[in-house]
Amino acid sequence: MKPVRILFVCLGNICRSPLAEGVLRELAAQKGLASQISVDSAGTGGWHIGDPPDRRSIEAARRHGIDISGLRGRKVSKADFAAFDLILGMDGENVKTLRQLAPAGLEDRIDLFLSYASGRDQDVPDPYYDGPEAFKRLYQMLEAGCSSLLERLEERTS
Ligand code: 4NP
Repeated sequence: MKPVRILFVCLGNICRSPLAEGVLRELAAQKGLASQISVDSAGTGGWHIGDPPDRRSIEAARRHGIDISGLRGRKVSKADFAAFDLILGMDGENVKTLRQLAPAGLEDRIDLFLSYASGRDQDVPDPYYDGPEAFKRLYQMLEAGCSSLLERLEERTS
């Protein structure tokens, strides 16, 4: 597989994108692909810079043997567009913000996560104001999406 650098982006960088980061890292390790994939996450908003992930995302990951408690929130920067091959927004609003921020010529690195991963034009909904069930659904959605993403990346040759 061609080495690839992936940045997951959501609004706050405490619920969806850090959980996606932890899940993809774990699935890549299970497939022996850890050295070919570097993964990070960031938010389009700056409210949670330096914060650990939301405790509900930490718990959802922990239930599946994944520790994301050491991750810290950060805001996406212009430098990220050159530093990553793929910048995947969790929802359409994230993608819109990323397109506004991207330096000229690097917009093609941006895509909607589930659209790139599985060809489905579908958002990963923001669970921040929802209950525990939303975080269970979030985990399942991210696991399925990251699994499809890995399959697509394994097929990628250029
Ligand atoms: P996330 O969820 O984008 O999945 O990290 C959110 C977390 C915090 C806020 C919004 C969304 N917030 O407004 O603080």
